[in-house]
Amino acid sequence: CDEDVLLAIESTCDETAAAVVTRSGRVLGECIATQENLHEQFGGVVPEIAARAHLERILPVIDTSLRQANVEGNDLHAIAVADRPGLAGSLLVGVVAAKSLAMAWQKPLVAINHLHAHLYACQLSRAARNDTTGSEADVGPQSVDDESVYPAIGLIVSGGHTTLYLCRDAIDLEYLGGTIDDAAGEAFDKVAAMLSLGFPGGVAVARWAEKGDDQAFSFPRSKQHDGSYDFSFSGLKTAVRYAIVGPGRQDFSTLELSDEIKANVCASFEAAVVDVLVAKSRRAIREHGVPRLLVGGGVAANRRLRRQLEEVAEADGFDLVIAPPELCTDNAVMGAIAWKKIDRNDFATLDLDITPGLQR
Ligand code: KG4
Ligand code: ZN
Repeated sequence: CDEDVLLAIESTCDETAAAVVTRSGRVLGECIATQENLHEQFGGVVPEIAARAHLERILPVIDTSLRQANVEGNDLHAIAVADRPGLAGSLLVGVVAAKSLAMAWQKPLVAINHLHAHLYACQLSRAARNDTTGSEADVGPQSVDDESVYPAIGLIVSGGHTTLYLCRDAIDLEYLGGTIDDAAGEAFDKVAAMLSLGFPGGVAVARWAEKGDDQAFSFPRSKQHDGSYDFSFSGLKTAVRYAIVGPGRQDFSTLELSDEIKANVCASFEAAVVDVLVAKSRRAIREHGVPRLLVGGGVAANRRLRRQLEEVAEADGFDLVIAPPELCTDNAVMGAIAWKKIDRNDFATLDLDITPGLQR
């Protein structure tokens, strides 16, 4: 390959991922090991299990992505790793692997903020993935290039985060607000668990919602009109639970609900989440006078959310860029954001530590 390449490592939550990405955003190699099956029986990610699984998988995943790219450690320009935010044990595995390889191969180390990377995914086109032909027409940033994307409002909606940023460029992000309790995806997963729809449950809830009446239950839109950019979904979760079984009941396993009620609960719940996400994003765009909304994270795959965002973008006249579906969920390709830090000579040292808590 005649372009500079870097190795990006991602292990913030429950996906172990590595990718080899060129300076122009071409993906030469990529490997993701998901842990969904390990956590399913618990209805959520178990940190201890996640860390151990990362430890088992991290070297094979890195090795696979390098082999796929036909690249050796020596050929790398840098090694990048997500050092924040995330589960401490999970982060540690990726960071220690990255530091060890950087030391062994004598390569510079770059620390990535996982949330910034989720938004950077908006700039990476589907066509760039696994494209080794190098034809310029279908590689690199999506229709919008690096310079013209900003300023923008960034919305991240995932299993771990619900956050709004004012993005001045790819790495200069100002925190506007975020969830004070559950993340949007977490709420989807918990409602799925109450209805025994499996884990992670976002996709299942969305599928049931399509057959339901979104007005059947009037669930709360917490904080929708409070003037902040914060979110809260725990009240909604409780309201769903009361709607299903009434207060007090803990065990949902023997619950018999008709398909109609399940579908109506899912539709009404989904509508409540989406209404709040859309209202706050829309207000952030208006109040900051920026022309574009970037959306990333697993819940960005939700069809109702995408549809409603498209409607308000059309009505208010702003540009909407949602990450390609396969780059919405956790992956290492979005670690291509490391090039932005390399361009600014922003390298980490070998004493890099993890930062599990959300960085504002
Ligand atoms: O970004 P992601 O892979 O994980 C984190 O970084 O946290 O997002 C996973 C989350 C899960 O909570 C999953 O239920 C949710 O995204 N999700 C969805 C949909 N697809 C995935 N939620 C609603 N509708 C969907 N279509
Ligand atoms: Zn994530």
